[in-house]
Amino acid sequence: MPENMKQAVVYQIYPKSFSSHRQQATGDLLGVVDRLDYLAWLGVDYLWLTPFYCSPQKDNGYDVSDYYRIDPAYGSMADFELLLAEARRRGIGIMLDIVVNHTSTEHAWFRQALKGRDNFYRDFYIWRDQPNNWQSKFGGSAWAFEPESGQYYLHLFDQTQADLNWENPQLRQAVFEMMRFWADKGVAGFRLDVINLISKDPAFSEDDSDGRHFYTDGPRVHEYLQQMHREVFAGRELLTVGEMSSTSLAHCIDYSRPERRELSMTFNFHHLKVDYPQGKKWQLGRFDFVGLKRIMSDWQQGMHAGGGWNALFWCNHDQPRVVSRFGDEGQYRQVSAKMLATALHGLQGTPYLYQGEEIAMANPAFQHIEELRDVESLNAYQQLLASGLDRTQAMAVIRQKSRDNSRTPMQWDSSRFAGFSQTQPWLRLADDAGYINVASALADPDSVLHHYRRLIALRKQYRVLADGDYHCLTPEHPSLWVYTRRSAAEMLLVISHFGAEAQSYRLPEGVIPEGWQAELLLSNYPAPAVGWQWQLRPWHSLLYRLTPP
Ligand code: NOJ
Repeated sequence: MPENMKQAVVYQIYPKSFSSHRQQATGDLLGVVDRLDYLAWLGVDYLWLTPFYCSPQKDNGYDVSDYYRIDPAYGSMADFELLLAEARRRGIGIMLDIVVNHTSTEHAWFRQALKGRDNFYRDFYIWRDQPNNWQSKFGGSAWAFEPESGQYYLHLFDQTQADLNWENPQLRQAVFEMMRFWADKGVAGFRLDVINLISKDPAFSEDDSDGRHFYTDGPRVHEYLQQMHREVFAGRELLTVGEMSSTSLAHCIDYSRPERRELSMTFNFHHLKVDYPQGKKWQLGRFDFVGLKRIMSDWQQGMHAGGGWNALFWCNHDQPRVVSRFGDEGQYRQVSAKMLATALHGLQGTPYLYQGEEIAMANPAFQHIEELRDVESLNAYQQLLASGLDRTQAMAVIRQKSRDNSRTPMQWDSSRFAGFSQTQPWLRLADDAGYINVASALADPDSVLHHYRRLIALRKQYRVLADGDYHCLTPEHPSLWVYTRRSAAEMLLVISHFGAEAQSYRLPEGVIPEGWQAELLLSNYPAPAVGWQWQLRPWHSLLYRLTPP
């Protein structure tokens, strides 16, 4: 794992929506090259690009049809090599998204598999004579019937995303060989898509829910990741992050504890389910703030104690925009976005920021289902209608929950298509692009963008951000999240007010050792009076560093 991992910040790019060099409806790799100076200025160390391999784009590239080739819509291998070199020249590493729980049904392996039960590639996938009751994460049964052979294949996602059979050692070798191909090209890391789903319980038993018990953190997943480490990561300086669906703290400690030689760190999603009523995503819900703190605190303390490492994030291409979700997308958009940034970047782990988060992009308030493109959202809309909601009610849910909320084009400037392209983009722009954009944020030293840049710089400056322990002082408070980070030589105090009401807060006695000096490193309001008591303003955020006398 790279030495700088604990001080690094990763920026996530969704190439389709980032920047179109060729001035087309979709973004491309040269568009990323065009923006490298901006990303270097921001101070990020790695760029994780979501998949740009050949793909029929049923799930925007998470349905790979050829792992070795770049989809012409995104450019060429020469464009990718240019991106690698230009990023490296600026001290930035490129991380690839590796999607090996499944392939597209248009992948050559799957096409071969269709040729008959005794084909070598048949066993690269999971076939059964009878389906069980497992459900696809995109709705409906997880099994699709293939009439030629009379068997069903498993697809935990879309029907065009067939699950790979990791029990087959030859499949594993084919995956590792492909990963070595990219590592040899000089990529700096990998983000591994739903990697904790690759080991299915071979009994394929019926489940009393959707089947997830039988494949989440499944029986051989650690063994497979250790093999991947030996075959691909060993001897290379790669940053590796696993996307872990419905995982547990104990498993994530094991996935990321260096001695186990699996991954550098893990993403989990428990903190982003605090607005799912009874665990249901496709229902309107207010968010449970106390629950959010409890989850964050458990993972901070648990990973610290267990020697694991967290990937920290509020946003990605599957999540609604955080300022709309946990902040205020109206009057307090700027201050609440800064508060959310500080609350997250003060924690232990490696922060990931997702394109547009740094300028406080919000959900675009989709009005009509025709505006959406995401397969999951379109399926969910139909299911909501089938469950009895009318169109207005179904659309209200989609507007709040859809993954397309985060996939609208990046807002670079106030020109017609926001500097993303000179053509109508594949997904509509948010209406606020005229004033929420990178150009105006760069020009305003008080912008959310400059705030993020300072946070990124602080992580490199103060070791306590990487090493310090974590203690929450306000676990039950309805709007305050106050925590400390301590190492032997210094301490941080982070105060975050999740709300618009005036709020006072006094630090309990004994939190700060006698005689320690406080320095305010960052806030979203002018510095308050010195002392251990505050009159907090709407969405107030304060980050202090404390040092011994
Ligand atoms: C997680 C990815 O982030 C998401 O976009 C995708 O739909 C699923 N995995 C399936 O690959």
